[in-house]
Amino acid sequence: MDFSIKTFDAKTTIIAVKTGCIAVGVYENRKLSKEAQELDHTGAISAVMKSGDLSGKPGSTLMLRNVEGVAAERILLVGLGKNEQIAEKDFNSAITAVVKAFSTLGTNDALVALPAEAVKGRDAAWLVQSAILAAHDAAYRSDGLKSQKDHGNHGVKKIAFALPGHAAVAGKAAIAVAQAMASGMALTRDLGNLPPNICTPSYLATTAKKLAKEFKLGVEVLDRKQLEALKMGSFLSVTNGSVEPPKFIVLKHMGGKAKDAPTVLVGKGITFDTGGISLKPGASMDEMKYDMCGAASVLGTFRAIAEMNLKLNVIGVIPTCENMPSGSATRPGDIVTSMSGQTIEILNTDAEGRLILCDALTYVERFKPAVVVDIATLTGACVVALGNHNTGLFTRDDDAHDQLANDLLAAGKSSGDTAWRMPLGDAYNDQLKSNFADMANIGTPGGGSITAACFLERYTRKYTWAHLDIAGTAWKSGAAKGATGRPVPLLTTFLMNRAG
Ligand code: BES
Ligand code: MN
Ligand code: ZN
Repeated sequence: MDFSIKTFDAKTTIIAVKTGCIAVGVYENRKLSKEAQELDHTGAISAVMKSGDLSGKPGSTLMLRNVEGVAAERILLVGLGKNEQIAEKDFNSAITAVVKAFSTLGTNDALVALPAEAVKGRDAAWLVQSAILAAHDAAYRSDGLKSQKDHGNHGVKKIAFALPGHAAVAGKAAIAVAQAMASGMALTRDLGNLPPNICTPSYLATTAKKLAKEFKLGVEVLDRKQLEALKMGSFLSVTNGSVEPPKFIVLKHMGGKAKDAPTVLVGKGITFDTGGISLKPGASMDEMKYDMCGAASVLGTFRAIAEMNLKLNVIGVIPTCENMPSGSATRPGDIVTSMSGQTIEILNTDAEGRLILCDALTYVERFKPAVVVDIATLTGACVVALGNHNTGLFTRDDDAHDQLANDLLAAGKSSGDTAWRMPLGDAYNDQLKSNFADMANIGTPGGGSITAACFLERYTRKYTWAHLDIAGTAWKSGAAKGATGRPVPLLTTFLMNRAG
């Protein structure tokens, strides 16, 4: 898809634009936006509004063809809600409706002429970014393994945004950012949606190597022998039951100054989580192919920041393996020694994410990181707490960590990929007590997403750290089953803000 910015002045008017479709806003009281008023110079649009055919409710649409006195082939009227101070969620509904309508049109190009600066606290660049991400979302298909593809070749391929002249530069920059983000999200979604017999740890390693080659990133893939030498007893205990070899991927995008401490992302890469000997129930077990979405979001974010040539040092670390039951699988009751030296009593083999992450979190100490953020589909309890709307965010609560938490929350807000902060603390930490080892890998009942984060916290005391539990946000269940590409927008925005 191709995007551009179009500005208007006294000489070039929107009436004369030759395009397949122009999307303009109208309100519930039948009032027209400024752009709609310009197109209405013959009164054709007011007449339609008078007819009552369009409610003007956020996201309602009406397609007009061959409107008198307008060069464009079609006008798409879009409801923006009650008044001209548009609420963000109403604007999002309108944008979603516009790109959805565009995606089935029999024309190649279109113009979005919505009131770019009418949403409180948002600017034209935000409009451009939201619209581009929504357009890619509407066009996304996961039909790579279907013999009959889901879509033909119709739909708008070139979208221009009508912006006031002073917003043109910011609008152009937003196109580049959004295109990079969308391309990262598509990679994340594709990897998440691939079946677990194809998207294995080796497949993720190959994907990382391809990405490194395409964008000249540093890459290293450690195999079982090297992991044994590093004494990653916790990570290796998870892969015991699987015939797929585990991989430990390290990706480097060194866009900053050589001496700048890197920002480190660590992604959980369980390519299939059966639960192991603590076997999961059969219903919806297929969805545990998404248990590598933390890893996929690290790869997607690397694609995005590499495409935008971000001036920041970023290191991505992905421990990846399968969690399978077998005669050689880890048993409940087994005690393992992590790379940090701390011992772990594995009371439930289904709490495996923390077991692979803790060794990765110890490994990253060698990079002397500025901050470390881990991303994991870690707990069902996080889905209970926050649903599918917010990623769970956990950090310690001293000043440095409050700063990091606020940066992540702000990046989520500005990109529409939101997170919500959850607590840690001694009371939860105590739930991890074991009679036989330094800690158990599960807590006593209650606060499951927090005890999981407390477990990780014990391995992150040498640097500033945050944990993102994306179990609820990384994919959708039901009819729209599939990976969402979250939290690539949050992570990319966070890194862009760090680059300044
Ligand atoms: N990958 C799952 C978490 C998960 C479950 C994500 C459901 C999305 C939906 C994780 O490895 C897991 O199984 N966690 C257990 C932990 C429990 C055994 C303490 C869980 O959440 O049930
Ligand atoms: Mn599990
Ligand atoms: Zn898991």
